[in-house]
Amino acid sequence: PVLVVDFGAQYAQLIARRVREADVYSELVPHSMPVAEMMARNPVAVILSGGPSSVYAEGAPQVDPALFEAGVPVFGICYGFQAMAKALGGEVTKTGLREFGGTQVRVTEKGVLLQDLPAEQNVWMSHGDCVTAAPPGFTVTAESAGSPVAGFEAPERGYAGVQFHPEVAHTVGGQDVLKRFLYDIAKTDRSWNTGNIIDEQVALIREQVGDGQVICGLSGGVDSAVAAALVHKAVGDQLTCVFVDHGLLRAGEAEQVEKDYVQATGIRLKVVDAQERFLNALAGVTDPEQKRKIIGREFIRVFEQAARELDAERHVDFLVQGTLYPDVVESGGGTGTANIKSHHNVGGLPDDLKFTLVEPLRTLFKDEVRALGLALGLPEEIVWRHPFPGPGLAIRIIGAVDRERLDVLRAADLIAREELTSAGLDRDVWQFPVVLLADVRSVGVQGDGRTYGHPVVLRPVESGDAMTADWSRLPYDLIARISTRITNEVPDVNRVVLDVTSKPPGTIEWE
Ligand code: XMP
Repeated sequence: PVLVVDFGAQYAQLIARRVREADVYSELVPHSMPVAEMMARNPVAVILSGGPSSVYAEGAPQVDPALFEAGVPVFGICYGFQAMAKALGGEVTKTGLREFGGTQVRVTEKGVLLQDLPAEQNVWMSHGDCVTAAPPGFTVTAESAGSPVAGFEAPERGYAGVQFHPEVAHTVGGQDVLKRFLYDIAKTDRSWNTGNIIDEQVALIREQVGDGQVICGLSGGVDSAVAAALVHKAVGDQLTCVFVDHGLLRAGEAEQVEKDYVQATGIRLKVVDAQERFLNALAGVTDPEQKRKIIGREFIRVFEQAARELDAERHVDFLVQGTLYPDVVESGGGTGTANIKSHHNVGGLPDDLKFTLVEPLRTLFKDEVRALGLALGLPEEIVWRHPFPGPGLAIRIIGAVDRERLDVLRAADLIAREELTSAGLDRDVWQFPVVLLADVRSVGVQGDGRTYGHPVVLRPVESGDAMTADWSRLPYDLIARISTRITNEVPDVNRVVLDVTSKPPGTIEWE
């Protein structure tokens, strides 16, 4: 792999993804990992990421000079660039000149790394300190107003670095810089692509599972759908999927899993209709946390029951989970049971149901999972589905949940989705929750009469990872169409409002 050493900035995952987009496999490692341990992974190259600190700050993470005796190509970015300069005998200075955001750099020497860039170039910067002298034997390749040395390289030794962030979209041509390092300096091969990932995972799953029986809970989301499809490709009918229909999904989603998905994959699916049970358990409950707890608890009970039945029938050994690489990294990269958001998760199964986990997406980012899903023949509607919370529509009804309210929300939600799709903007928003304020009423006039109905909130957001988000600036005429249709077509709703809160301070979901 290419190891991306995380110095604690939010950019490291992005770098790892960009490396993979260049068809080269990458792994994230913490900066605290000893060089010997890094080398034990046989890296073809090491990339030092950006980081929040100054190389001179107390306790600032340093680069162990042993890294430069290991004979591995190294690329330093931002903080990693400065740390590299310092470790190899260059000079890093606190000039007091900060550069943040879009910045002009001049390419003074194209060299190998910057050969695809024009002489003047807009890049993304984020730093205080700067490199004032390159290490001995290095060629300086770029400069900017605040960075006398904004790039350097010693390609024959396998080393290069830049002060700016080539991984962010704001850096024009950034991916070309990364590719020049990977292909021309580190001489990596380009074998990381969808076909190879599938072949490799299928082989790994076969090896792990042997002729054992496997169970997988489908949630309706893309991760479990792709994980199950991969396992099915590997071991066929040894896999049984269980879909708990808790009645809190959006219009058409349960049917999509039951029909389209099964048709596309040929997977054996056991559907448990638990709608009644969930509605009874949720009756009269208004507190968001209590709703979540009840749904989580009922979900595990229902799944457990289904698993027991299946186990009695064919003795199940393995449980598939759609854990993704970011979950693995964020939980410390450890092995064994990874942390998954509690509601999708069936990790709370009792001890006497001892299943070994199969996690075929553990090394993958979301965009890779989607590409895999398409390559495995899954319907686009499933592969490109927006994230949807495990507790479903229950946390989008503000107030107690019942069948009528669910139907009202489903109808409004379907209109919003239809209009977003026909405007061609599905992929421009991260998520588009529609929320029913079931305990609020307002006065309206519809037809010739006064109405006293409920408001619906539109909550379209843009986000990269759901940790932070901004409200989407959807075109007003689209918002207007959605509003008109909802108030015309959905009984009991006489008002539509737009949520213009970013996260923070607001969360994406209302509960
Ligand atoms: P918030 O509302 O915290 O949501 O900004 C962040 C992201 O997580 C999703 N979400 C959940 N997903 N189980 C899930 O699987 C949950 O209980 C849950 N709650 C929120 C939410 O839709 C958004 O994408």
